[in-house]
Amino acid sequence: MSRLESMQRRITAQIDGLNWAAARIADLSGEVLELGLGNGRTYDHLRENLPDRRIWVIDRVLQPHPSCMPPAEDFLQGEADEMLRALAHRGVRAALAHYDFGYGIKEKDVAEGARLSPLIAALMVPGGIVVSQQPLTGFRPVRGPDTIAPDRYHFYQAL
Ligand SMILES: C[S@@+](CC[C@H](N)C(=O)[O-])C[C@H]1O[C@@H](n2cnc3c(N)ncnc32)[C@H](O)[C@@H]1O
Repeated sequence: MSRLESMQRRITAQIDGLNWAAARIADLSGEVLELGLGNGRTYDHLRENLPDRRIWVIDRVLQPHPSCMPPAEDFLQGEADEMLRALAHRGVRAALAHYDFGYGIKEKDVAEGARLSPLIAALMVPGGIVVSQQPLTGFRPVRGPDTIAPDRYHFYQAL
């Protein structure tokens, strides 16, 4: 598969996965976590589809497309571990988390996902949905949309 095709699969998985998750949390109260702002594409999709939910955004850098700048009061700039602890300290409770951190080095990304999993779990309401680029631990795996290959994106429910 070419890198272009791989990129196409990733973007399709993100769109379908986030739409699926937004529908799944319709009856749950709670906020949203966007873990990895990057260019702001998935953040923009979340805010379009979940306009009534507060979206907390974490990234170590603030470099989105200018049209995708989160409100300053919803953006936490810094390392994920410390920022997730800061959200817990504020009492944030999330119905949906989208995990899109990563270096692009598989072993490092899997290890980081495992390390951050309990910090994310502490923020989730029971039954909340986690949509993730990386495998996470300590959540109940659930089958995402049929359009996404099972190992391409990961879907979990908070216990
Ligand atoms: C793949 S990009 C996110 C792409 C974004 N979701 C989008 O649609 O444009 C990953 C982002 O996560 C951030 N990041 C990765 N690991 C991090 C960590 N441990 N703490 C804070 N930010 C991190 C990087 O700075 C980068 O901007």
